[in-house]
Parts: sequence; structure tokens; C-alpha cells
Amino acid sequence: MPNLPKIIDSLYIHFPYCRHLCNYCDFYKKIPDNIETDVHQFHSYLEQSFEVHQNLMETHGYSWAPLTTVYIGGGTPSLWGSAGSTFLKQYFEKHQLKLADNCEFTIEVNPGGWTEEGMSSWRSIGANRFSLGVQSLDKNMIEFLDRVHTIDDVFETLDYFHKNDLNFSMDFMLGLPSSEKFNRDIIGELKQALQFEPDHFSVYILTVKENYKFFKNLPSEEWIEKEFLEVATFLKDQGYKHYEVSNFAKTGRRSQHNLNYWKSHSVAALGPSATGFLSEAKVRYKWATLKPEMTLEHLTDNEFKLERAYMALRSDVGLNLKDFPDAISELAEKWSDKGYITRSGEMIYLTSQGYLLIDSLMGDLFSLKLL
Ligand SMILES: C[S@@+](CC[C@H](N)C(=O)[O-])C[C@H]1O[C@@H](n2cnc3c(N)ncnc32)[C@H](O)[C@@H]1O
Ligand code: SF4
Repeated sequence: MPNLPKIIDSLYIHFPYCRHLCNYCDFYKKIPDNIETDVHQFHSYLEQSFEVHQNLMETHGYSWAPLTTVYIGGGTPSLWGSAGSTFLKQYFEKHQLKLADNCEFTIEVNPGGWTEEGMSSWRSIGANRFSLGVQSLDKNMIEFLDRVHTIDDVFETLDYFHKNDLNFSMDFMLGLPSSEKFNRDIIGELKQALQFEPDHFSVYILTVKENYKFFKNLPSEEWIEKEFLEVATFLKDQGYKHYEVSNFAKTGRRSQHNLNYWKSHSVAALGPSATGFLSEAKVRYKWATLKPEMTLEHLTDNEFKLERAYMALRSDVGLNLKDFPDAISELAEKWSDKGYITRSGEMIYLTSQGYLLIDSLMGDLFSLKLL
């Protein structure tokens, strides 16, 4: 069989700077010593990485296609501002990267960490989706998390998105320190958020290490489960589909970029600590933080198949039972009886209850030793 051309049409870029470090965050980021000098260093990192990345792509027979998704994450990429959009425009031109006609181009935004000028410049180069880190609209909660912005900053940003009729998503976190003690009213917070008509919500359960400064103040598992299921039911009733463990979208507003991860498609990545994937070659790569160098991981066929199953099950891509031996049918029946999945022919999809239990369900699946 002739080798099909392998293409990459999805790109993630990691911008690693923040104004302040939130006490729970495990993403790679730092406070710049001097934002201009640091951004300059970041630009040379991206410049030098391109050739390394090109070599990797060529080794495995990949070429670029017009980008259907671009995602600028961080860190706080809205701090990159118009210097970033100007750099990226030239970078894309220099390396002949084109945006496809309907390219979904997302940039993460922090409340209080953006300017109108910066936003306009990103929009002028094609950014058309904005992801806002809110975490909570409760003043006490954001103080616990050491967020650097105020609630007013959040509303100011939401107002900007709403007035300009932009496609935007909001990040919230559940299971926050002292939320049980203070009886956090997450539904009340979401009702306030809905006034700005977001297209999408990401709702993450806080994960922290044991040495986290508020480890002892974390709520009980029962509280977190109740909070998660209340949120899922509420958002569903408001017309947001629970389409992935932590994600809810209005019709037509699912994150196309993230769907590429959940479908195990190839996604290129650039920037310190960013991780990319060449799907057909089964190669994952991760960029070093200080030098534009990458480490590679080659997945075996079985590792790839299990990972693909995990990624598909955690979203409404769904799992095809035909891809697995009969043993899984019994398990699927058990899950179905407990309300963890719905079935449509040979496809299975998790319910909100199933998404909540994804880790233990995947444990059940792997323990069958299917492969
Ligand atoms: C890549 S982070 C960057 C977002 C942005 N810098 C901000 O803080 O607003 C994207 C999202 O991940 C979530 N997140 C960060 N740390 C987390 C943690 N320890 N547990 C769960 N979710 C977390 C937050 O909701 C955050 O908005
Ligand atoms: S602003 Fe975002 S990326 Fe930066 S430390 Fe806080 S949570 Fe992490």
C-alpha cells in the first residue's frame, strides 16, 4: 500500500510567563525578570526550535498543511500582547505556515493581564476564540488561590468579550480550599457568568501535591462529587453539552483543537515544556524548558491503542467496542447498568457520572489486559 502523505494542521504554542504565580499551578511558567528581554529570549527559542521540529517532521515523513487549529496557551499568553501577534505573523510567513479558512485560533487570557490594543492585534492576525481563566467568582476563593486579579477584572474582561460578540470559554475550578467550609455557591457563580453568554466552559477539579499549603483545607471527596454533578446538570440544562470530562459547549462550539488530542490526531507543539504528537509515527515529544531541545517517546502499537481508547472515552469521540475483544462487552454492560455510559450500536459514551469516575473506569478497562 502506498504511504499516505502525513500532515500536521494543528499547532500549540506555550507562552511561559505570568505576572504572579498562583499557589496551586503546576504548568511550566515563570515571572519575567524584564518582560521585554524575556520575550526576546522566548522569540529566539521559537526561532531555533523550528528547525529542530522541521527535522523531526521530515524524519517521519510529515509536512505542514494549512492550520485548522492554533492554540496559544501558558502561562499567560495575553501578556505577549501586540509584540506577540507581530512576531507570530512574521514567524508564520517566514516558515510558510498558513491558516486554513476556518482556522480555530485560540488564545488564553488572564483577567487583568491584557490590553484592548493587544487583543485587537491578536484578532487582526486571526485569533477568534478566547479562553479566560476565572476559577471562581467568589472573592474568598480567588484569595485562597493567590490569584493576582480582582473579580472586577474578570467582569471587565467578560464585558469586552460580550460587547465584541467574541467566541469565548471560561475556566472554573472545583474542589477549592475551604469551599466546603464556606459552602461555595458554584451555581450562583455560573449564573453570574451566564449573563455574558459564554460559548464554552472548562470546569476542572483542583489537583495539588501533598505539600500544597492548603492541603488540609481541601473539601471531602463527597463534596467534590456533589459539586461536579451539580455543575454538569446545571450547564446541561442551560444548553451546554458535557462533551469531555471537564468541558461543556454550546452547539458548534466544542474546542476543535482539544478534540484533536482526544481523537489522538497529530498536534505540533512549540515552546518551553510544550508536548506534541505525531500520530501515525506514534511519536510524542516534549520541549526542554531552557534550550530548544526535545526528548522523544516512541509508543508501541499496544500503548498507542490503549492511549487512543483512553482519549476517546474521555470525550464524546466515544469508544468503539469492535476495537476490543469480547471481554469488554461484559464490562460495558456493568457500566451501563450503573449509569456510567450510554450506548449507540457498538459505540459507548460516558455520562457525566462516568466522566467523574473516568480514572477508576479506565483502571477496570486496563485490568482486563485486552491487548
Ligand atoms: C494552562 S492554565 C492557564 C490559564 C491562565 N494562566 C489562568 O490562570 O487564568 C489553564 C487552566 O488550567 C486550570 N488549572 C491550572 N492549575 C490547575 C490545577 N492544579 N488543578 C486543576 N486545574 C488547574 C485552570 O482552570 C486554568 O485556567
Ligand atoms: S496565571 Fe495561570 S499559568 Fe500563571 S501561575 Fe496562575 S494558573 Fe498558572
